[in-house]
Amino acid sequence: MEQVLRRIARKLIRASSSRSSLPLTCLRHLTQADIPNIKPSQTDAKDKAGSTNHGPVRMTGAGPLTSKSADATTASFKDNTKDAKQPRFVTRDSDSLSKLLEKASEKVRMAEAEPLASKISTEKVRMTEAGPLRKKSDSEPTSSRKTGAAATSDSTARSSRDTSSKKENAKARYGLELMKAWQISEFGDIGSLQLVDQVNVPMLADPFDLLVEIHAASINPFDVARTRGYGENLIQNMRDLSKFSWIPRLPDLASLFSRKDDPFPLTLGRDFSGRVVDAGKMVKGLRAGDEVYGVIGPHRQGTLAEYASTSTWCVARKPKNVSHAEAASIPYVACTTWSVMKLVQNLPNRNREDTRVLMLGASGGIGTFSVQYLKTLGVHVTAVCGTDGVELVESLGADDVIDYKTSTVEKELEMRDRFDVIFQASGHNYDSLKKFLKGNLKSFFVTLNFPLLNNSDKLGSIPGLLKSGADFSLDYFKGLANGSHTIWAFFTPNGSFLEEVAGLIEDGRIKPVVGKAYSFDEVTKAFSEVDAGNSNGKVVVEVRKE
Ligand SMILES: NC(=O)c1ccc[n+]([C@@H]2O[C@H](COP(=O)([O-])OP(=O)(O)OC[C@H]3O[C@@H](n4cnc5c(N)ncnc54)[C@H](OP(=O)(O)O)[C@@H]3O)[C@@H](O)[C@H]2O)c1
Repeated sequence: MEQVLRRIARKLIRASSSRSSLPLTCLRHLTQADIPNIKPSQTDAKDKAGSTNHGPVRMTGAGPLTSKSADATTASFKDNTKDAKQPRFVTRDSDSLSKLLEKASEKVRMAEAEPLASKISTEKVRMTEAGPLRKKSDSEPTSSRKTGAAATSDSTARSSRDTSSKKENAKARYGLELMKAWQISEFGDIGSLQLVDQVNVPMLADPFDLLVEIHAASINPFDVARTRGYGENLIQNMRDLSKFSWIPRLPDLASLFSRKDDPFPLTLGRDFSGRVVDAGKMVKGLRAGDEVYGVIGPHRQGTLAEYASTSTWCVARKPKNVSHAEAASIPYVACTTWSVMKLVQNLPNRNREDTRVLMLGASGGIGTFSVQYLKTLGVHVTAVCGTDGVELVESLGADDVIDYKTSTVEKELEMRDRFDVIFQASGHNYDSLKKFLKGNLKSFFVTLNFPLLNNSDKLGSIPGLLKSGADFSLDYFKGLANGSHTIWAFFTPNGSFLEEVAGLIEDGRIKPVVGKAYSFDEVTKAFSEVDAGNSNGKVVVEVRKE
């Protein structure tokens, strides 16, 4: 039987060499398992016993194997059965051969379709994980590292390699596969933001992590700046360092010196309110189903997504008496305020009644939270804001409000007592106000406008750090000569402070101030709103409608 098949194959090959290689291809795709489908006739069985010399099999009309030509091939076999010396196939056998060839051609079709299918799926991953590639904006900050389409395709290629296993894991663990997220595939303007609907649900990176279903997130000026590439050099270093697991391993160390990963596709958003889906083994006191609010470090994927993972140190139980949208307006500004209040000089432990604070940018996200927090400490607050914010800031408890739009701040301050702390959260340059500090070596000018990230973007991480160190020292010693300290403060994740703040919110001593709320589809509008600086309080995005 095998010999017969070989001969048929030879014939097919010969016939096909002049017209098409399909029959050859068909036979190449036949497996041993397909062979028994052809049943030899009696004569064939005798031949197999070794008595007859078969001679060449003559075939007529063997052309390219369409279903029609397959029939023709079968027919020519039937013709050959007239010769008793030739191996004969009864009708059933002819049908079997026809089926065999059809099966083989089916396999060819599948084999040819396979690379196409995998090409399509790779392309799909590329589009869904990164979003369509966009043209780089002219205003994009320059970076020594790879950005743009090349970087995107590298990173998406890496992502696509990991995709299947990650999907399986996330599916196996949470029953979740893909989610929607607002991402950028390269740095650019707000228009670079894309709502991508097939992003992998993140897995817990270490035993201290939580996976959270995001219900609301807020937009901060940092998110807008980040879209344009702000801070990338330093954040890249954080990303590299974060590869150290909680038990440091050599491969992690090696990765510090290896080629840098690009951040794309990058999900933006730094704070959230939501519900715990999964908690790592080392997470204490929180479990699936708990409502939490918190922040995510800038080196990780952000919160403008249906799910995000963050560290247990960055979250606390959500205050019960407010909505997710309200709760989401708090964490980033609270953690930044914490760095000012506690890191700067342990303000809460000062003699509070005598302490006077000047709050610049009092109607903004940081300002509306800080004014209220300062009032819970019992200090005297003089707030500076624009006309639209005066009423709001007064309602938050400020003792004294200066409208910078209708008056000159310096002139106004000439008429007031000096301050222990000037908290600069306006984005405007108010360095000239340092002279209004008490100057008793216990007074502080604390600014959130520090040049570290800008310097690192322009000069690279190490030179940027060195320059910033030099700038800081200069500022600090100049201030000291006048009897005060100049300090830079920055966002510092702190779950225990968020716990404290949740208590203050539940007691009604701090109220979330949501200036504007947008739906998840309107993230670009929310970014534009923050960019324009039009609204008082916070701009939030409701990822899931309550
Ligand atoms: N270093 C860090 O880690 C860090 C963290 C968070 C924030 N920040 C920075 O801190 C600043 C405030 O953040 P945010 O989230 O509160 O921003 P925001 O919500 O946009 O608030 C900024 C506020 O500044 C006010 N403002 C603008 N020009 C002013 C002026 N000449 N005098 C007084 N107030 C003025 C605006 O008030 P009107 O609307 O009344 O003009 C606005 O309410 C931003 O520059 C942000 O980039 C830094």
